[in-house]
Amino acid sequence: MGHHAEPPMASWESTYPIMRCGYPYISAQCDRLGSNLFSSRLLLKKTLFMRGEEAAALFYDEARFTRVNAAPRRLKKTLFGEGAVQGLDGQAHRQRKALFLSLMSQPRIDALMQWVEQYWQSHLTLWQPQASITLLDEFHQLLCRAACAWCGIPLHQAEVPDMTNKLVLMVEGGAAIGPKHWASRRARRQAENALQALVSQYRQGRHDIDPSLPLAAFADFQEANGKVLPSHTVAVELINVIRPIVAVARYMVFAVMALHEYPHCLDKLKHPGAGRYRQHFIQEVRRYYPFFPFLAARVKTDFTWQGYRFKRGRQAILDLYGTNHDAQRWASPDQFYPERFENEPQAFHRFAMIPQGGSEHATQHRCPGEWITVALINWAIEKFAQQVRYDLPPQDLTIDLNVVPARPRSGLIITNVRPIDPLSVTTEENG
Ligand code: HEM
Repeated sequence: MGHHAEPPMASWESTYPIMRCGYPYISAQCDRLGSNLFSSRLLLKKTLFMRGEEAAALFYDEARFTRVNAAPRRLKKTLFGEGAVQGLDGQAHRQRKALFLSLMSQPRIDALMQWVEQYWQSHLTLWQPQASITLLDEFHQLLCRAACAWCGIPLHQAEVPDMTNKLVLMVEGGAAIGPKHWASRRARRQAENALQALVSQYRQGRHDIDPSLPLAAFADFQEANGKVLPSHTVAVELINVIRPIVAVARYMVFAVMALHEYPHCLDKLKHPGAGRYRQHFIQEVRRYYPFFPFLAARVKTDFTWQGYRFKRGRQAILDLYGTNHDAQRWASPDQFYPERFENEPQAFHRFAMIPQGGSEHATQHRCPGEWITVALINWAIEKFAQQVRYDLPPQDLTIDLNVVPARPRSGLIITNVRPIDPLSVTTEENG
């Protein structure tokens, strides 16, 4: 390797191969080239692709990369929204981020989980007579109701399906092309308009809520200049809370799926005192199952890394999925094996296990929703391993690795859901 060399080139354009091959693409190129860094083009833009723990540490170096104007326009119009925390840098980012993190205290998370439990109980009474339910759809609706209630956003029961569809479309439409992508943009516009109207009502004193709820916290928040955020930005940031909460449904479905596919894990989880194992199981769900494939940033200043030249302005992509499945870091990375975390001291890895981004929460773009995500997956495991019985009819649970974000094809259909009768459990245990 010469000094200040250009990174190896994988192909002239990568957009089509990425769409065809999906999550494993970047990693496959790294393996083929024997390099955790390569260059190519994405949507015709020259791009550096990076994978692995060391590359992640580099990607989160603020002196070298910026997120300002880094996200493709199509993602801003669907997934993130304009003016959102994702596209801020430096001091402005830290202040806005502190607001998100202030919502993540244990009592606040407990409050969210109480809403989840309450709506679960009411869904459960609806489900019992039903022939079958698709768990992904049901979790989406359940989480939409809980998230809105938690934020102080009024949502009539009749509005739940529509609001849920809009939030799911924002998550699914970023990577989609054609009609689904445009439906996703429309869904965002409509949801933003509705929430913006609500924020105006609140500011005029016409929507009386607890000031600690996210709607009030975002509407009252003052930036460094002493001004409150424009009502549109408040709407965008509120969607930045409720949309990803709804998206956790995918991890909850993956967790329930894993209970079936790995029965020895289920046995371990049922053991009294399995708390530590449960944490490892949750970590493995987040590591193993595909979610966001990669992140985008721009090179802030010319520099050299491992002998390779990084040019100012160049687009850089960090492979999240490939880093979580990097064989240089994880033994048998493509096996679901929660026990691997027994020897991993960190609960949240800085750069090796980065399904929700890496580095630090307060100063970097790392996801502020990790604690909520873990709490929700934990809840789903507790429910489905211990508190309800149900049947799993034959179905196609294939996860297509070129569908982003990933899901089992069937959405996980279950039938005959009912609470476990505590008396029958006692009898079984005694018998
Ligand atoms: C399904 C589970 C989730 C996944 C896979 C996920 C993933 C991610 C990823 C990959 C990032 C980008 C990190 C970066 O740019 O460096 C991120 C950022 C973010 N996430 Fe999550 N997330 C999840 C759940 C949540 C939840 C539950 C919330 C809120 C309650 C949330 C709110 C956010 C926000 C506001 C950001 C932007 C942070 C910033 O730019 O500083 N996420 N998430």
